[in-house]
Amino acid sequence: MAQPSIALIYGTDTNNTEEIGHKIAKQWEELGESVDIFNIKEISLDQLESYPMLILGIPTWDFGGIQSDWEDVGDCLAELSLEHSVIALYGLGDQFGYGDYFIDAVGWLYEKLQPTNATFIGQWPTQGYDFEASRACTKDKTSFVGLAIDEDQQFDLTDQRIEQWVIQLYAERTIETA
Ligand SMILES: Cc1cc2nc3c(=O)[nH]c(=O)nc-3n(C[C@H](O)[C@H](O)[C@H](O)COP(=O)(O)O)c2cc1C
Repeated sequence: MAQPSIALIYGTDTNNTEEIGHKIAKQWEELGESVDIFNIKEISLDQLESYPMLILGIPTWDFGGIQSDWEDVGDCLAELSLEHSVIALYGLGDQFGYGDYFIDAVGWLYEKLQPTNATFIGQWPTQGYDFEASRACTKDKTSFVGLAIDEDQQFDLTDQRIEQWVIQLYAERTIETA
């Protein structure tokens, strides 16, 4: 396998976002690509600049709150040189327990990275989820700006969502980097 061109960076409080990160990486491996996986609290941010593609994972905590290790670096994200990077986001949340804030932190991360002029891929339909509001929705509310995973309420859908999303990313990346 060639040197990884994809880095997956996650933050987590109770490990769900890490576990999902490993599942996403495994799916890429089935497509013949390896992925470097990092916890956001253990790397220096400028390492992100050396990968053509980044997959960033974040859970939402405490009514729309940002996972603390991501929050710590939030103000530095805008300064990264990612104008040639392709970024895909995924988020963990609980749509029934926190339906007014479902995966809000994904929306926060998306907003924080806008100044970098990176190319975002991997939007995901809101259909199939039951929630009131989310900062991660696109304007027309038909999509999230990244993959939504709900291990609390819809864990049985996780594996198929990941499989479908990675296949989608593979195709979208090819278009964006052509
Ligand atoms: C106290 C508490 C607050 C939470 N707040 C939110 C929230 O505001 N929005 C949301 O979508 N999920 C919320 N969740 C659900 C978590 O995001 C979910 O359990 C996630 O899988 C945790 O990911 P982690 O294990 O990577 O930290 C909350 C869970 C708990 C226990």
